[in-house]
Amino acid sequence: MQHLTVTGLQWGDEGKGKIVDILADDYDMIIRFQGGHNAGHTLVIDGQIFKLSLLPSGIVREDKTCVIGNGVVLNPEALAKEITLLEQGGIHIGDRLKIADNTPLILPLHSHIEQARGQVKAIGTTARGIGPAYEDKVARRAIRICDLHHTEKLRAHVQSLVEYHNYWLKGANAETCDAEQIYQFLMQYRDLLLKHHTAIVPFLQQSAAQGKKFLFEGAQGALLDIDHGTYPFVTSSNTIAGTIGAGTGFGYPTYRLGIVKAYATRVGNGIFPSEDHGKDGDMLAEKGHEFGTVTGRKRRCGWFDVPLANSAIQISGTDGLILTKIDVLDEFAEIKICTHYEADGKRLDYLPHHLTADEKSITPIYETLAGWQTSLNGATEFDALPQQARDFIAYIEKLTGKQIVMISTGVERSHIINKMPK
Ligand code: GDP
Ligand code: IMO
Ligand code: MG
Repeated sequence: MQHLTVTGLQWGDEGKGKIVDILADDYDMIIRFQGGHNAGHTLVIDGQIFKLSLLPSGIVREDKTCVIGNGVVLNPEALAKEITLLEQGGIHIGDRLKIADNTPLILPLHSHIEQARGQVKAIGTTARGIGPAYEDKVARRAIRICDLHHTEKLRAHVQSLVEYHNYWLKGANAETCDAEQIYQFLMQYRDLLLKHHTAIVPFLQQSAAQGKKFLFEGAQGALLDIDHGTYPFVTSSNTIAGTIGAGTGFGYPTYRLGIVKAYATRVGNGIFPSEDHGKDGDMLAEKGHEFGTVTGRKRRCGWFDVPLANSAIQISGTDGLILTKIDVLDEFAEIKICTHYEADGKRLDYLPHHLTADEKSITPIYETLAGWQTSLNGATEFDALPQQARDFIAYIEKLTGKQIVMISTGVERSHIINKMPK
């Protein structure tokens, strides 16, 4: 198929950035379609580290065009900072970046509202104003890039938006927002945004017609999806592969690959049935360097969860899997995989929504596999893997019914086993 979508199938941080960077070699345009600068995608190329939150991971390859779709909520200040950092790192952006002109903007008031409401603590959000910005979009109040054309109309729009939010902020005894400051914030970034803004639908249609190949890059993961995730401990966008139509205006089918880590992690609050609170969990965090790219928070760690992976595979219409961070399991004598749950004495092969609020009501049931206890770090050949590692991979393929087409064995771009059918 001409186009590809790559999404995370867990709670984010599956290694999407690294994988998209590798796959981008075969594609012309790399496109984000949801989320915002809550994402943190780390790429390591010949020892140089790139941390991307908003720009698609193809941006480090200077022959690629990168697109931010309208499904993203965009903070112009974060965009400007990320562009500057990349330019300082020797990556030239120029006109390789296109941003949909109907993209809603994150304003400073959005993170202020999120803090004032206590959502940062209650949900464990990234405090980037993501939720409040999506709320404004759905409530038809948002300021979008195309609104920057008419500065007088924009002034009135900002005024009414600020009045709306100040009503609640006053009631909550929180500091109110100043419309003029927000207007000036927008004017500060107006040129940058108008430089990159694009009518995304004709742009993508024409590019596809010219034979250009698209790679759609997901942020977060299926279990953080606003509809299908572990609500309310989710992000505020649809994170699944099917979102690309709404998030870019490109409605045609794509091949879909889903990324899973060889274990599980989660940042922030919410149910995590296979979480390991003991020394194994600590060892996963330590070996996997499981600290958030965006907020620096320690990620909670646990074992690969088959029921949740299978739901994510189905919801995302996944054609094949990419398994990452298998090398993190190198030193374990035994590796656990959660194959199903028990609740009220019954076997469960999926996590029902009514149980997500009460973690203690379900018991994860594990299968234990023998570890390989040798280093896979940097491995590139499947046939050279120890038998135990191949058994682990085969077991995940069996329980998910999906072929694993790539296996990531370290942080570097070159640390990859490619089993993709030619
Ligand atoms: P993303 O949000 O899905 O792009 O993932 P993050 O970049 O937030 O987190 C993944 C982390 O694991 C990053 O620090 C990567 O450099 C690192 N990483 C990616 N793949 C591998 C791998 O196969 N092995 C190891 N050890 N680290 C990896
Ligand atoms: P990448 O793209 C992991 C989590 C937050 C919080 C919840 C809601 O790097 O995989 P939000 O700020 O989005 O309203 O927070 O979602 N979260 C992520 N966790 N990786 C991410 O992105 C995440 N983006 C949001 O920790 O639990
Ligand atoms: Mg991340």
